[in-house]
Amino acid sequence: LSEETEQMLSAYEWLTKLYHHLIKYQKDGKDGLEYLKSRGITKETMEEFQLGYAPDKRDFTTTFLTQKGYSKPMLLKTGIVAGNDNNEVIDRFRGRVIFPIRNALGRTVGFGGRALQEDSGPKYLNSSEGELFQKSKLLYNFDLAKRHIRKENEAVLMEGYMDVISAYQAGVKNVVATMGTALTETQAKLLNRYAETVVICFDGDSAGIEARYKAALLLRSVGCGVRIANLDAEEDPDTYVREHGGEAFKEKILRTSDSYMSFFMRYQRRHFNLQVESERIEYIERVLKELSLIESALEREYYIQELHKEFGLSHEALMSQLAQHQKRLP
Ligand code: CTP
Ligand code: MN
Ligand code: MN
Ligand code: MN
Ligand code: MN
Repeated sequence: LSEETEQMLSAYEWLTKLYHHLIKYQKDGKDGLEYLKSRGITKETMEEFQLGYAPDKRDFTTTFLTQKGYSKPMLLKTGIVAGNDNNEVIDRFRGRVIFPIRNALGRTVGFGGRALQEDSGPKYLNSSEGELFQKSKLLYNFDLAKRHIRKENEAVLMEGYMDVISAYQAGVKNVVATMGTALTETQAKLLNRYAETVVICFDGDSAGIEARYKAALLLRSVGCGVRIANLDAEEDPDTYVREHGGEAFKEKILRTSDSYMSFFMRYQRRHFNLQVESERIEYIERVLKELSLIESALEREYYIQELHKEFGLSHEALMSQLAQHQKRLP
């Protein structure tokens, strides 16, 4: 690592400690502490994830770091602070709970900051992207989760900070998150190196459902097995775990997650009106086409049987149409 990179990392290290110290011991951090407690986060978990609080002041952080000897251009490069029009640096994170984002080696390379109220600006602010902080290459919590992922040969992929932290606290430890953005090939390949299967466990809203589909395609394209978990429309893993606990999450959400093909059928049903005959046929065609890409003959047979049961089409007709699709494969 270059000397400059080491300096940037050390700035993050100082701040992680400072923000965490505030939340643990100081009046200045009380709002953050209350907030995390209200969301069911224990002191131990705050410790483990080094959660913190950045006070609602203009220059708390910049003053601290400047006194430590960091230059303004250096601070801007880390993405920790913001620059204003007068060539000054000002705090980026004000009155926010801080989630340190660690790289695979456990070193903090960025922060996510959550507003305490709905009306205090964007819900989350992150460090700005730069040399050090590259969301597309990181998975939140990968450093803590990786040994569990390897041991279980399975990773659970979520959207956000709180999803991962709640699940981890409840004993589901092979969890990582994309931090809201679309899964990238770098992230997919990383997961594929550690586990045979990734359980995609995104939010139940439509954004989450669309993101599941894209993530599933990408993971499969790098050779990774997928399953897809179902959550109710208004749920995310955090709300589910808080309401039902970690064991229920394992048994009722992870264990009952869909195979790729079941998910695909469920997903496509959102886009076709099966009451309309022409769309019903289109749907069946679309499913058969996808099914032709499935390697396991047993699995193909299983879903052919499902289509047969649901639509009353003969086994022969379905098989022969499937064969047509298979012929068209490269
Ligand atoms: N995110 C972000 N910036 C935003 C909104 C979201 O970076 N303005 C990222 C965060 O990493 C967040 C994730 O996307 O954790 C998922 O977003 P969302 O589901 O909207 O938030 P939650 O994680 O459910 O947040 P919370 O439970 O704290 O409301
Ligand atoms: Mn979401
Ligand atoms: Mn969410
Ligand atoms: Mn949430
Ligand atoms: Mn529920």
